Amino acid sequence: MSNIEQTLSIIKPDAVERNLENEIKEIFKINGFKIVKEKKIQIEKTEAEKFYKVHETKPFYNDLCSYLSSGPIVVMVLENDNAVLGNRELMGATNPKEAKEGTIRKKYGISIDKNSVHGSDSLENAKVEIDFFFKD
Ligand code: CMP
Repeated sequence: MSNIEQTLSIIKPDAVERNLENEIKEIFKINGFKIVKEKKIQIEKTEAEKFYKVHETKPFYNDLCSYLSSGPIVVMVLENDNAVLGNRELMGATNPKEAKEGTIRKKYGISIDKNSVHGSDSLENAKVEIDFFFKD
């Protein structure tokens, strides 16, 4: 049985800066993801702080929010069968050094901060994150 889901994906500043936007979108497409919404934006640090609020108590929170707001990003709603888990598998481990061969973070990630892509970690968070960027 099919289980079509939507998830939020972000191409982070390190990847946009290296002109990897189209290459990464192509990886999503060949893996069956449909990009149903997308926009290229630069956000304020205060918006990044809201987006990453779940990490508020973590030692890396401040750097993470500075980083996400440091340059243009591409935010996308991806749709696919089991999109949330499928996207996480395609991205690979948060730390590119631990990511498996063939994953986006293994291929493009520079460090745990500059790990090229973000993806929602659950269906519940996907809804919240999609609303965050695309509620009009
Ligand atoms: P992302 O999937 O966007 O979610 C939170 C981000 O925090 C994560 O990717 C990493 O880029 C960043 N981060 C920095 N340090 C850590 C850490 N020690 N553990 C998890 N995430 C971290």
